[in-house]
Amino acid sequence: MPESRIAVVGATGAVGAVTLRLLRERGYENVRAFASARSAGTTLDGGLRVEEATPEALAAGDIDLALFSVGTSASRELVPHAVRGGAVAVDKSAAYRLEPGVPLVVPEVNAARALEHDGIVANPNCCTIPLTCVLKPLHDAAGLVRVRVSTYQSVSGAGAQRMEQLRFEPQDQHNLAMDWTWDGDETDEESKIRAEAQKILELPELPISATTVRVPVLVGHAEAVWVELEEPISAEQATAVLGAAPSVQVVDVPTPGDAAKTDQVLVGRIRPDRAAENGLALFLACDNLVKGAALNAIQIAELLLDRARVAA
Ligand SMILES: NC(=O)c1ccc[n+]([C@@H]2O[C@H](COP(=O)([O-])OP(=O)(O)OC[C@H]3O[C@@H](n4cnc5c(N)ncnc54)[C@H](OP(=O)(O)O)[C@@H]3O)[C@@H](O)[C@H]2O)c1
Repeated sequence: MPESRIAVVGATGAVGAVTLRLLRERGYENVRAFASARSAGTTLDGGLRVEEATPEALAAGDIDLALFSVGTSASRELVPHAVRGGAVAVDKSAAYRLEPGVPLVVPEVNAARALEHDGIVANPNCCTIPLTCVLKPLHDAAGLVRVRVSTYQSVSGAGAQRMEQLRFEPQDQHNLAMDWTWDGDETDEESKIRAEAQKILELPELPISATTVRVPVLVGHAEAVWVELEEPISAEQATAVLGAAPSVQVVDVPTPGDAAKTDQVLVGRIRPDRAAENGLALFLACDNLVKGAALNAIQIAELLLDRARVAA
């Protein structure tokens, strides 16, 4: 079977740049870079020339797999053209995540769902991915009853321009922010974490309450998590369960700095929650551009490519 033809759409962005790096590191060579008319014609660090992501270019029939990181409205407009041209699209925006029939996949949690696609597989939010990597093994071990989470999200979660702004912002102006769109009395990030985690874990009634906070850190999201479980589970047992979970690494104190550029979800501070029966408190950190976005999408793509190879 010839090597798959891969398009990275949004290649000039924060996630797109990491996607191209990871594809290079994994040995993929048949890769094209797409972005808007603004950066079409420029040449990227790795030497790729950026093409304009027009509907015609995406539908031309010469792309097998399209990895999109262009934002929700551009994804709504462009993804269907790539699918029309015969590509499978892995989309990292919120455009399709909650659509019935579109798989929303974290390979460590629900890999089999990826194969049920009808042209589009959605990649979850950058906080939902590490959260579900940790919740799934705890659910399997002791049954989730309730989840509360508070996030500490880096500015790279808001894109490359926000990273530049933080680099040039005087330190005495650094602050916390809740810079998402409001969805009633929650941020849309908070409601996304709840709805996406319920869909991925296939626990539609699981109560999840989130508070999302932007912090003046360049890369790496952290989350304080409180879970209530059906069965009692000690901190030692939970540590053993999480230590054996795929893509999870138990450390003493997870920080965004330690998580940056790693593939793992770092988990630590695992202890009883003194405010709940059968409760656990823990802290996690993850590179939002790697496992929180680009790597998770490439892992999904590899599930699809493996199936194509078996079928060929
Ligand atoms: N950052 C994260 O941690 C993270 C994590 C998970 C998911 N995501 C999602 O990934 C997407 C991109 O995020 P990002 O942080 O990489 O944003 P970003 O740094 O702002 O990059 C956006 C990219 O999309 C391109 N683009 C924008 N509008 C376009 C259009 N109409 N047609 C073609 N290309 C277009 C831009 O190209 P130009 O250079 O031409 O403007 C750029 O390459 C968003 O949907 C975001 O929600 C981000």
